[in-house]
Amino acid sequence: MHVEEKIRLRYCGEEMKSLGTISDAFLLLENDRIHSFGTSSEETIKEIRQKHLQLTEIDAAGGHVFPSWVDSHTHLVYAGSRENEFVGRLKGLSYEEIAKRGGGILQSSAKLRLCKEEDLYESTRKRLNEILILGTGSVEIKSGYGLDLESELKMLRVIKRLKEKSSLTIRSTFLGAHAVPDEYKGNKKGYLNLLIKEMLPAIASEKLADYCDIFCEKNYFTKEDAMELFEAANKYGITPKVHAEQLSHSGGIQAGVESKARSVDHLEFANANDIQLLKNSETMPVLLPGAQFFLNLQNPPAREMIDAGLSVAISSDYNPGSCPSGNMSQMVSFACILYKMTPEEAILAATTNSAYAINLSHETGSLAVGKKANLFITREIPSYSFLPYSFGSNLADKIILNGKLMDRNSF
Ligand code: NIG
Ligand code: FE
Repeated sequence: MHVEEKIRLRYCGEEMKSLGTISDAFLLLENDRIHSFGTSSEETIKEIRQKHLQLTEIDAAGGHVFPSWVDSHTHLVYAGSRENEFVGRLKGLSYEEIAKRGGGILQSSAKLRLCKEEDLYESTRKRLNEILILGTGSVEIKSGYGLDLESELKMLRVIKRLKEKSSLTIRSTFLGAHAVPDEYKGNKKGYLNLLIKEMLPAIASEKLADYCDIFCEKNYFTKEDAMELFEAANKYGITPKVHAEQLSHSGGIQAGVESKARSVDHLEFANANDIQLLKNSETMPVLLPGAQFFLNLQNPPAREMIDAGLSVAISSDYNPGSCPSGNMSQMVSFACILYKMTPEEAILAATTNSAYAINLSHETGSLAVGKKANLFITREIPSYSFLPYSFGSNLADKIILNGKLMDRNSF
């Protein structure tokens, strides 16, 4: 069992090298919280049984107990799919070329605008169930395929309803600055004005977003656009996040750090100067190895970041264009294989550090007394390193969220 004696909000550099573990452990949950844990001797178990008469017992039977994954970066609300672009890329087209031909984000936007709110709700609910079965307990979900007031509100209202209904803990992000829609082609300033003057106030008044994100990238938005948007978002108490340095170096990390972003995400093109900027900040670098793998991009400087003493998080980026998968165990495997992160580093990156990226690490992201009882029990495995090693398998056998054992047939 991988546990935490004292709550840590994030793990940096060397601190990511080891996981607190207990063998032959007991874990006692009360209501939706972790009550206590320790080594399970016959005596302690007897004592627990005497003290807690209405105890339900689960035998982990050789399995390992992990805190639920925290996926701090997804675009789970979308309509349709984009396997046509996938095939295009296999034939040699790049993500940028596809976008220039009207594919990419704008293709998803055209489909989303036509989709009824109820249908979006239903398809997103199914995706949430899919990631729940894979061991995810908390997830951030972005808007950003609406790109007009009505459609962005539609996406964010779907997320709000799911926040209230789902067993997963959900955080929402307004990503109106994902791309410039066709009706503002050649008039990016006009679109930014719409984002700042109309969309942000409407979203803030309905309390629809915890975060405000922007795609800081050549042909999308600049560092200056990000600073302008974030100044407005910060006034509404909506915290910045950035899609930064994914396809080129655009200064997104700098804009994020200067605007007190909670996280900067992707980072394939981050450089030594960016690492220094992050070092003196509260901003979490989030790596998205699924998107990098799927688009066949270069590695972000993950090892350099950890070796420089930075904290690093991993998330999925689940979306129809650059990562049609929300399998966090797979992301942990990718982080080990592609970035040479150790299993300990990758597991901490996908739990506590990822929880930090959505300001949830005081509540979840580790098995610590007082935190939410969000965890999964694997089938029998020889060690925790078996998890990233057995890439592509779903080892999560029993899933407990908010202290409740989830029934596989009614997730
Ligand atoms: O995180 N980079 C920009 N946004 C998404 C991709 C969205 C899409 O292609 O639909 C990403 O990779
Ligand atoms: Fe993304």
